[in-house]
Amino acid sequence: MASESDSFKPFEFDSTLKILSDSSTLKAVPSKFNLTNDRNAFTSDSLPTIDFSALVGCDPHQRSNAVHDLATACRDWGFFILVNHGVPERLMSEMFRKMVEFFNLPDSEKKQYEAKSASDPIKCGNFNVANTSNQSFTLWREYLKLYVHPNFHCPHQPQLLRDVVQEYTQMIRVLVRKLIEAICEALELNQRRYVDEILKMESSFQLFATNYYPRCPQPDQAIGIPPHTDHGLFTFLIHNGVAGLQIEHDGKWFNADSPKNAILVNAADQLEIFTNGRCKSVKHRAVVNEEKDRISIVVANGPSGEAVIGPAAALVEKDRRAKYCAMKYEEYVESQLTKSRIGGKSILEQQMILPAN
Ligand code: OGA
Ligand code: NI
Repeated sequence: MASESDSFKPFEFDSTLKILSDSSTLKAVPSKFNLTNDRNAFTSDSLPTIDFSALVGCDPHQRSNAVHDLATACRDWGFFILVNHGVPERLMSEMFRKMVEFFNLPDSEKKQYEAKSASDPIKCGNFNVANTSNQSFTLWREYLKLYVHPNFHCPHQPQLLRDVVQEYTQMIRVLVRKLIEAICEALELNQRRYVDEILKMESSFQLFATNYYPRCPQPDQAIGIPPHTDHGLFTFLIHNGVAGLQIEHDGKWFNADSPKNAILVNAADQLEIFTNGRCKSVKHRAVVNEEKDRISIVVANGPSGEAVIGPAAALVEKDRRAKYCAMKYEEYVESQLTKSRIGGKSILEQQMILPAN
């Protein structure tokens, strides 16, 4: 999830973003959103694609190829396009319909979910971020964030929102578990021990977020989400057909576009830590555009909040050193929510242990 900072009342509800961008007279980005950024990015036809049906199928040859491809994608890109995942198209479309209904609720209805603190299980509004000189900017985005597992939280309006969010996030948990098992297999780690006992996936912490990025009159002067890494193991993202996610690869930015119905998946901080750096938590950002409103639906999947995550012992032994300090996951999330700064050191960077000498 994006970095948030709460040193300057960041969760204030602000309905102007939607109203301003709806107005045809808006020619420039109002000053509080003004954050000059370069949104140029390359387009690559070599973004990795993972066929989920091969990963869980009974053809052992196909399966071992898919396991290998997954590990390679997590190592080289920290990102892949997941296809044949089994999440029905009707569920995805229904999700977008419900999200639009949510963002169109009257402000009085949404205001009850205005966040009071970073750890509220339901929160919505606009986001402020700070840079290292403590200057604050508002992101060009309205969001709704929900803690959905191990305890499920969701607004009661619009009707049926709870049902679709519950169905979708439950399906994602099944996919995540399979991906983690496959990574463990590729790295020759004992699946039971790591998935069940160390990561404690039975009580995994799962966060649902939806981001609404209205069209923007000056897309180079505002940003949807600044560059960041996500805190969990794997993040799943779908969008309403309007591109805007960019990922960093070999020091350059790439557009992460996707075929219809595919899910964009990125490896996140806990996976990098757990694999002692074999999987890469990829830096990514969301840019805005002049023509179309964009909605993304993001599900961040972590280990249990109670789990203390450090590099897997078997990998530390192989590498002869741990490259990251261990930390309780809920403390890690808390630090990311409250301490990140644009241009500052990320929590992941702070956890890195440099080689001796
Ligand atoms: C996030 C995120 C990107 C997007 O919510 O953490 O990176 O395209 N979103 O919405
Ligand atoms: Ni993110």
